[in-house]
This record gives sequence, structure tokens and C-alpha cells, in this order.
Amino acid sequence: MIPISPTLQSRLSTPLKIGSVEVKSRVLQSPLSGVTDLVFRRLVRRYAPDSMMYTEMVSATELHHVKELPKIMEVDPQERPISIQLFDCRPDFLAEAAQKAVAEAADTIDINMGCPVNKITKKGGGSSLLRQPEVAEAIVKEVVNAVNVPITVKTRIGWNDEEITIIDFAKRMQDAGAKMITVHGRTRAQGYNGNARWEWIAKVKQVLSIPVIANGDIFSVESAIQCLEVTGADGVMCSRGTLGYPFLVGEIDYFLKTGEKLPSPTPIQRLQCAKEHLQALWEYKGERGIRQARKHMTWYAKGFDGAAHLREQLSVIETVHQGVDLIELAIAQLGNKE
Ligand SMILES: Cc1cc2nc3c(=O)[nH]c(=O)nc-3n(C[C@H](O)[C@H](O)[C@H](O)COP(=O)(O)O)c2cc1C
Repeated sequence: MIPISPTLQSRLSTPLKIGSVEVKSRVLQSPLSGVTDLVFRRLVRRYAPDSMMYTEMVSATELHHVKELPKIMEVDPQERPISIQLFDCRPDFLAEAAQKAVAEAADTIDINMGCPVNKITKKGGGSSLLRQPEVAEAIVKEVVNAVNVPITVKTRIGWNDEEITIIDFAKRMQDAGAKMITVHGRTRAQGYNGNARWEWIAKVKQVLSIPVIANGDIFSVESAIQCLEVTGADGVMCSRGTLGYPFLVGEIDYFLKTGEKLPSPTPIQRLQCAKEHLQALWEYKGERGIRQARKHMTWYAKGFDGAAHLREQLSVIETVHQGVDLIELAIAQLGNKE
């Protein structure tokens, strides 16, 4: 049994209120570029029907120049609650993109102010906004004025160890009209290295009145509870822990609601999920889906005898049939051992 304090349980037993939007889960599936497409979100939602999910980040500039909405922005009319995440540094483009996102049925619009990738920060987007808080403020204000759904921000604790600016930055975002902030407890300089510094998220929570979501290093029910205790946050957002494991958000949500831990899926169940994921990617994206599926498949194939060999084979599949055959053979072999 994982210890969970009564204060924590009662604090999290009410819905998460993001402005006018009420979400019946305190566990969120993060935006993950190249991962959280409609296919992946469907799998996550099967186990976490109440949770807020995010699209992959969408460039507002790119959106400004195209007529058709990119596939990464596509939302299933039945998937709710859903946030479309945008990135850019131009308030006018972001406002325009937000209007398109609302037309596509987004329940909230999230602005990416945390992406560390050079290609994005060099153009003034993602985490570079931490160094230009006035621009970040202008973005939030303009997007708030452009649409009638809540605007949220996802960011990091600062640019580097010398510039941990999150306290001031988060207050500015709240004052500009953001209705929730998600804080990844790393600096931009950290990338994905070292530990997420949850203590900074705790400090943010103490000074804001809007919900604060903790992000970084949530890989299990245990780490989620520990993070919620340490930060006092209003919820947790799962990221790398969901790669090849779309069960995580649902497992944490179930525990928070019932105090009971779901049994972990067996290797066979994980491989069955991998097969379904592969087939769905093929149906949704064709050849491109197969190329994207390779990485997903290698993430699923873990934690059983022969997994390393299977990973190698799955990482080079050319067709859906090749992948399905490999997975079915692995399932049969695991079944024989049981
Ligand atoms: C493959 C990958 C893609 C990501 N794409 C996005 C993205 O599109 N938008 C975003 O805000 N964060 C993105 N992130 C950051 C994660 O949402 C999250 O903030 C980060 O991984 C920290 O959480 P973790 O330690 O639990 O993985 C990405 C991270 C990874 C590993």
C-alpha cells in the first residue's frame, strides 16, 4: 500500500477547475511531439477516460501559412477534455491559431513555453520565452482576448541554474490571464537530464491562485503521489513514463480515486497493446505511420526474455504485417512459457 495522506486525498477529490472547464481527473497526459497523436490519445483515454490530453505542439506560424489544418491538430469529436498546444513567439499568429484550434473543438489552448529545442528557441518560441517575460505576457493576453476557452501555459523552472525565474514568470502568466500553469521542474539547460526539481513547483504553488500542475519524472503511481505530496500541486502530468506505456495516466488516476493499485499489465498485454497501436497508426497515417511506429514498438518491447532481440527487429519494420507477425510470435512464445 502506498501511503497517501488524508489531506492529499481530500484536496484532490474535487474536479480540477481550469477556468470554466471542469476536469474529473487530476492526472494529465502531456503533449509529446511525435507521440501524442489521435491514435496514442485514444489508447491513453481507454484507461483514463476523465483525463485531459494534449495534442503535439503546433507551430502558429506554420498554421498561418497553410489552408488545411495539419494532421497533428486533428481532434476526434468524442475525445474530451482535449487541449491543443501551440508554440510561437508572435502574439498575433498565436491568437489566430487559437481561433482555429477552438474551431477544431479544443476545450483549452495551451501555449508551449518550455520546449528546449534550438530550432524553436532560436526563433523566440518554447523555453526562450522564459527570458522574454514581456513577450510571454503579451502572448497570453492576446490569445485570451481572441478566444472564449481557457488559456494555459506549460513551461520550465528557468533558462539555467543562474536564471531560475519561474516564480516571477508564473505570477506574470496568471496576471496576464492564464487559467492554469504546468511546470516541468527542470531548466532549459538541463534538457531532460538530472532530476526534476519538484521543490520549485512547490514554491510556485504557494504563490499562485490558478491550478499548478507538476511535471517531470512521474514514472509510476508512487512517484506521482510523492510529487503531489512534495509540491502540493493540483495535479500531475505524465510524459516519458507513458512512452510504450499508455496505462500510466489511468493507473495513477485510479489510485487517486480509489486508493487501490491496479495490477500492472503483463508483457503479453503490453504487446497486445503494441499490436493495436501499430495497426491503428497504419490505418491513420499509412507508410508514415509505420515509420513512426518503429520507436513506439521498441518502447513497448521491454521487461521480458527476448525483449532486446524483438526491439532490434521492430526498429526496422517496413510493413504493418512484418510488425504484427513479430509481435504475435513474441506473444505466442511468452504464452508457452506461462
Ligand atoms: C519525445 C518528447 C516530446 C515532447 N514534446 C513536447 C511537446 O510537444 N510539448 C511540450 O510542452 N512538451 C513536450 N515534451 C516535454 C514533456 O511534455 C515533459 O515536459 C518532459 O518530458 C518532462 O516530463 P518527464 O520527466 O516525465 O518526461 C516532450 C518530451 C519528449 C520526451
